[in-house]
Amino acid sequence: MTGTFVVFEGIEGCGKTTQLERTRLWLQSQTTRPVVVTREPGGTELGQHLRSILLEVSEGESIDDRAELLLYAADRAQHVEQYLRPHLERDSIVLCDRYTDSTVAYQGYGRQLNRELIDRLNAIATNGLEPDLTFWFDVTPEIGLDRAFKRGEANRLEREALDFHHRVRQGYVELAQQHPHRIVSVDGTLSADEVEKTVREILTKRLTSKSART
Ligand SMILES: Nc1ncnc2c1ncn2[C@@H]1O[C@H](COP(=O)(O)OP(=O)(O)OP(=O)(O)O)[C@@H](O)[C@H]1O
Ligand SMILES: [Mg+2]
Repeated sequence: MTGTFVVFEGIEGCGKTTQLERTRLWLQSQTTRPVVVTREPGGTELGQHLRSILLEVSEGESIDDRAELLLYAADRAQHVEQYLRPHLERDSIVLCDRYTDSTVAYQGYGRQLNRELIDRLNAIATNGLEPDLTFWFDVTPEIGLDRAFKRGEANRLEREALDFHHRVRQGYVELAQQHPHRIVSVDGTLSADEVEKTVREILTKRLTSKSART
């Protein structure tokens, strides 16, 4: 596969979608390679249905933790086969909002489900497809949730207790330690312009070292 797979990770409101969109615009002005953006959950038609089940459940209604884990895995399996691999086979640069690290952080650390089970499910869902690079925008839950709430109505995950979000953030801290080459930590509390500049610098280095195609 000749494409480049870049993932944007972090807790609610850390700036993933903001930076992904800025990066897309910048990359499209820099390269002749196709640049595409996608997200999990919801990167395919099936995934859109799963996304609304996962995020738009009304207050009071609950999803069992293991059911939730399996729904995310189903979304990912479909996304990997129907979207990610085909684009990566066409030499695209794929920018993806959340991937396997979200499952480890939210279901493993947030919900405290068994890590081995999560790793196994991630392996099944991805069939071995790993990102070339993952940006992790680190902010405290207080900052992230404050930004997310100001954006409008809270979704099912944003309504979780602060403790939950602290555990999720700790998940990202440990993931970054476990995968120091793949995961690059970026200070998400800086201004969006400063974060964007850092992302550009890191991507420029990685893209030129991977190949001279840009
Ligand atoms: N560096 C920044 N400084 C201040 N505000 C920011 C910054 N980056 C993004 N924002 C604002 O914070 C809000 C959340 O940003 P964004 O939607 O990009 O986060 P996200 O990580 O995609 O969140 P979610 O996980 O909920 O989708 C938006 O209103 C955005 O404009
Ligand atoms: Mg977002």
